[in-house]
Amino acid sequence: MENTGLPVQGQTSRQASERFEKPRNYGPLSQFNGHARITGPCGDTIEFWLKASEGRIAGIGFTTDGCGPSRAAGSMATELAMGKPLTEAAQIEQADILTALGGLPEESQHCALLASNTLKATITDFGRKDR
Ligand code: FES
Repeated sequence: MENTGLPVQGQTSRQASERFEKPRNYGPLSQFNGHARITGPCGDTIEFWLKASEGRIAGIGFTTDGCGPSRAAGSMATELAMGKPLTEAAQIEQADILTALGGLPEESQHCALLASNTLKATITDFGRKDR
């Protein structure tokens, strides 16, 4: 059967499986002005660092000790956020990450929620600091 890239039950999209293996923007930033770490109900932790400049995300990185889908979701969250105004990046939701990944299996969709929540918390952390 031809692979259309669309999510099919029991299958993982090409976009997602590529990022299971090779997540983009993986690793902490040495210079950052926003940071957050959240452990989800599954017990896995995602951590984000961002460098914002003139209201935009100029650099972003993440790590996770979790599953393949958490690597894919964290990666896609950073890819969607990079270069965006902070106000826009703060609106990236679980559904946006899932759509960009071409879906995730139902049992892994919460991994995208953990990624979007951690991204939002990182942007909030930036806003909390006196700069
Ligand atoms: S199962 Fe915990 S983040 Fe995926």
